[in-house]
Amino acid sequence: MASIMQTQAGDAGAFRSFDLSRVPSPCFVVDEAAIERNLSILHDVGERSGATVLAALKAFSMFSLAPLTMRYLSGVCASGLYEARLGREEYGGEVATYCAGYKPGEIDEIIGLSDHMIFNSPAQKDRFLPRIGTASRPVHVGLRINPEHSEGEIPKYDPCAPGSRLGTPLSQITADMLEGVDGFHMHTLCEQGFEPLLRTWNAIEDRISPFLKDLKWLNFGGGHHITREDYDREGLIAFIRDLREKTGLTIYLEPGEAVALDAGILVGEILDLPTNGVDLAITDISATCHMPDVIEAPYRPAMLGEVESGHTYRLGGPSCLAGDVIGDYTRPEPLRIGDRIAFLDQGHYSMVKTNTFNGVPLPSIALWNSETDELRMIREFEYADFRNRLS
Ligand SMILES: Cc1ncc(COP(=O)(O)O)c(C=O)c1O
Repeated sequence: MASIMQTQAGDAGAFRSFDLSRVPSPCFVVDEAAIERNLSILHDVGERSGATVLAALKAFSMFSLAPLTMRYLSGVCASGLYEARLGREEYGGEVATYCAGYKPGEIDEIIGLSDHMIFNSPAQKDRFLPRIGTASRPVHVGLRINPEHSEGEIPKYDPCAPGSRLGTPLSQITADMLEGVDGFHMHTLCEQGFEPLLRTWNAIEDRISPFLKDLKWLNFGGGHHITREDYDREGLIAFIRDLREKTGLTIYLEPGEAVALDAGILVGEILDLPTNGVDLAITDISATCHMPDVIEAPYRPAMLGEVESGHTYRLGGPSCLAGDVIGDYTRPEPLRIGDRIAFLDQGHYSMVKTNTFNGVPLPSIALWNSETDELRMIREFEYADFRNRLS
């Protein structure tokens, strides 16, 4: 998620010095140096703990940074056919694919692209196990379990919430379900520190341990905010080392958000400044088209240069949706038409979720290096990108 906190704190970092007029509007600007810093932290955690760290493409799949990503991580985790293909073709390394439901028409292609095929239920695993047997190279089989231990407070982001469709409840697992299974997968956290992972493990250790002796690996999914400053990385490293020693299993982590945390902004422009009881500002950034988590999570993204007291505006997008509102923001100076603005921490879960509702143009994508100040336009979108999704 771009943030499940109702109000995101946001760290402007090096973007404080970025001249917003250097890019077209709207535009995602990703700081390559910040991505590399995150990747090197993840690499260090992998090295010192012995865990295999995969980048979750669902959060951040800016494949122009694939070579950089692969200098630090072992591969990617994918959510289905298209991400598995992107992972295999653009990134290389290991591809671990998990999908809540695979389709027979796609399964052979996904198997051909994946090193790990992770199933949501024993029924899906049994249905497609014979297909894995025909693969031209060894493919590991995983089963996603639901540890039935909630650490998330928001049901929408809690795969262990009552009635969840994600993973097989641990209480339902029996030894005969594990035929052909090489590993367990669990994904239960969202933007969380190490302690929730430890509590989850402590809650399930006794029940899960009898099954582990027949497995090769254990995948703890994503949701680990490993690159956040206050994350207890030493705790995570010690935990994984201990677990590897006790169980002999290979441990996988699939961070997504942590790869791009505080490494991207979304630049926009003020188009109009009407009033209606409050001061309004219309921008070319649409919450519903460009930052859908603002509405879906919901949350209020932090803005570059916002202050506690000054001139307050309710910012919203150009679309017809009454709820296309980003939030209320206070600036030190009155806004003017044509001013540039930027929302912080938009590298993950925004770029991957954009859409062209109302024909609103997609933001361009730029890569900036805060250490060298080099700026490269990676992509600009046009009418054809809108039209090609329609018929
Ligand atoms: C199975 C799985 N792995 C990895 C991730 C990445 O999580 P995050 O971006 O929060 O680290 C997710 C996120 O939903 C997921 O569902």
